[in-house]
Amino acid sequence: MAALNVRGTVRVPGDKSISHRALMLGALAEGESSVRGILDSADVRSTRSVLNALGADIPELGSVTTIAGGGLKGLRASGSALDCGNSGTTARLLAGLVAGNDFTSRFVGDDSLSRRPMKRVAEPLTYMGARCEFDRDDGLPMTVHGAGLRSIDWETGSSSAQVKSAILLAGLTSGVKVRVTEKRRSRDHTERMLRAMGVDVENDGTQVCLRPARRLAPLDMDIPADPSSAAYFAALCTVARNGVLDLPEVCLNPTRSGFVEALSRMGGDIEVISASFSGEESTGTLRVRSAELTGIEITEEEVPALIDELPLLACVAAAAGVELVVTGAQELRAKESDRIATVVSNLRSVGAQAEEHPDGLRVWGGRRTLGGSVDPRGDHRIAMAFGILGAATGNRITVESRECVGVSYPAFWTDLSRVAA
Ligand code: S3P
Repeated sequence: MAALNVRGTVRVPGDKSISHRALMLGALAEGESSVRGILDSADVRSTRSVLNALGADIPELGSVTTIAGGGLKGLRASGSALDCGNSGTTARLLAGLVAGNDFTSRFVGDDSLSRRPMKRVAEPLTYMGARCEFDRDDGLPMTVHGAGLRSIDWETGSSSAQVKSAILLAGLTSGVKVRVTEKRRSRDHTERMLRAMGVDVENDGTQVCLRPARRLAPLDMDIPADPSSAAYFAALCTVARNGVLDLPEVCLNPTRSGFVEALSRMGGDIEVISASFSGEESTGTLRVRSAELTGIEITEEEVPALIDELPLLACVAAAAGVELVVTGAQELRAKESDRIATVVSNLRSVGAQAEEHPDGLRVWGGRRTLGGSVDPRGDHRIAMAFGILGAATGNRITVESRECVGVSYPAFWTDLSRVAA
């Protein structure tokens, strides 16, 4: 096997979830928000263009993005359908945001997004008083007829930051109290950002309560580096023969740190060498060194904090030749692709041993040289996970339609070739 060396520093781009929310809440603030380090990717551009179609005034995304907020009731009807592209966060959060406005909005998206479930947001919004119509049984296109909404106390029975945030945004723009109870705590960026803007939002783990706010103070924030993007390089460095890599300014929010915890449990060597705060979010530099790994099991309670990193974790197990068992992760089937099926079929096609379960997967087998072609089915996280597997020692893997990484990390391939020698 050739010895893979991984050295240097990668400042991965701004966090995708936080970037979406900064644009949405900045558009609703009173006054001018200043957002530094926003992620400029296809998904965040979708949020920008939908907000602008609704009457917001958000300039091209840059190193500093200045947003002139129009207030909580500042949006108006769009003359055309709202194209959310590939972005579930855009469609689901903005459905909540427009539901309390007295106008109609039609949401459309690409083929992948059109297949993803939207009833999970339509149900609580309908309960609050909006009317949501589907062209088909579920998914996009979806038309939301906004109305004056009423208060809600909603139990999701699942763990989804997108559903929770849609309800919070509907409550915010219609001035009613909302409470959401989840099965497990999902990422809490919406709550943190709202708090920074002066809103009374309590979050005691699985229960979130938002009280009516009259106005949002503008944002003045630095977007931390995306832990989901940093995870690819942490994984690469871990499985390298010789690796030391620094990943600065990574968001250390505990609702997002599941990958670092899982990798550490496998024997990975990751330390936080400096930590600070960026608004309501904590950030830090991760220093990663190569390490020998062992197998682990991931169970339902851990899933929300590493849901987007599970395809990568499967590739890490395959690269290291250790066993990984994931259960309680059926939500993976409702992502940009059916990620259980996509990961397992692609692992098999490059020669790894893997099997699908209804709610998860298993990867096993000794360390071996893997090779072949991978079809990520247009899913950015699958393309990047297999990009890492391909770069790992001795593996010859070709990832098809590599450009799909543009929805979350346009410079991924360039950054990968810079640090892996
Ligand atoms: C996101 C929430 C998660 C995650 C997605 C981004 C968000 O989805 O998978 O990539 O920004 O709120 P769910 O809330 O559907 O789990």
